[in-house]
Amino acid sequence: MKEQIQALRAELEALFAQEEAARWTERQAYEHKMVYLGKTGSISALSKGMRDVPAEERPETGKLVGELRAWAEEKFTALEEEIRARALAEKIAGEKIDVTLPGKFAETGSVHPVTLVRRELIEIFSGMGFDVYEGPEIEKDYYNFQALNIPADHPARDMQDTFFVTEEFLLRSQTSSGQIRVMENKKPPIKVLSPGRVYRSDSDATHSPMFHQMEGLVVDKGITLNDLKGLLDEFARRMFTARTKTRLRPSYFPFTEPSVEVDLSCSACGGAGCRLCKGTGWIEVLGAGMVNRRVLENCGIDPDVYTGFAFGIGLERIAMIKYGIGDIRLLFEGDVRFLKQFRN
Ligand code: DAH
Repeated sequence: MKEQIQALRAELEALFAQEEAARWTERQAYEHKMVYLGKTGSISALSKGMRDVPAEERPETGKLVGELRAWAEEKFTALEEEIRARALAEKIAGEKIDVTLPGKFAETGSVHPVTLVRRELIEIFSGMGFDVYEGPEIEKDYYNFQALNIPADHPARDMQDTFFVTEEFLLRSQTSSGQIRVMENKKPPIKVLSPGRVYRSDSDATHSPMFHQMEGLVVDKGITLNDLKGLLDEFARRMFTARTKTRLRPSYFPFTEPSVEVDLSCSACGGAGCRLCKGTGWIEVLGAGMVNRRVLENCGIDPDVYTGFAFGIGLERIAMIKYGIGDIRLLFEGDVRFLKQFRN
């Protein structure tokens, strides 16, 4: 029995001494442990063998077996702890964060300059009591032209190179069509803004076949050109600078009478004359006028009782002035390098 105990201790010492033991996994260490300390392990077998030991030797032999068990358990526990500590150290090393590495960024998008202008205009005008109405982009000839006092075969149609879809339908060439739709459905007082895409067969550095307009319409009793001028002054100050002035020049639109072209004092040079305003100190930004009596009549509104004004703003034009963009096509090429500049 004593020899068996010594042999087992020697065997275990050799086992722990081998280099391999240091690389065991927890599972492997456990399996080895079971060979000795498990229910059917060899140390447990020794305990069971005690029955056969002569009574006088039992106390001493029992003590030796107990010592061997305690020693083996301690060794295995130490080994397991070592293995766990090593596994943890390896895990930490593998997850080490190098704080000097450049970070990974998810690129944020940016709002398109035309959308920025659209939002700003809506904000300015809704602050002055305007509602927003969006009409259809595929429009009837009637709403885009006829009701706006531009009958079929009228030369004024040449002002807008129109994309016809059928004889009756077209891609609207102006948001003015929204005026008619609003006035057909609502009686004065009316104060609406109608933003949207418009289309014309036209393309160069300052014209795009698709662009955006924002129509404004005010109809009520006693509305005058002065109200228009006052509203535009306020718009100019809010959109550009507190010093921006407006200037009305006589013009012609079939749906307004009188009609005006509206200039803003150049925000780049303050009116002294520069490249942006081509030396004139003024920049043309929109068309406007007093709603033509015929247009009111077409919508069932009595022009002897009500008067109104309307205006149409080109959003790309505002964006180009505001952000100093020289070519309208830049707005629609989708070049991320260009668009990124409008972040924030
Ligand atoms: N619809 C005109 C255009 O596209 C712009 C315009 C001029 C709109 C005068 C108006 C207006 O409402 O009163 O050129």
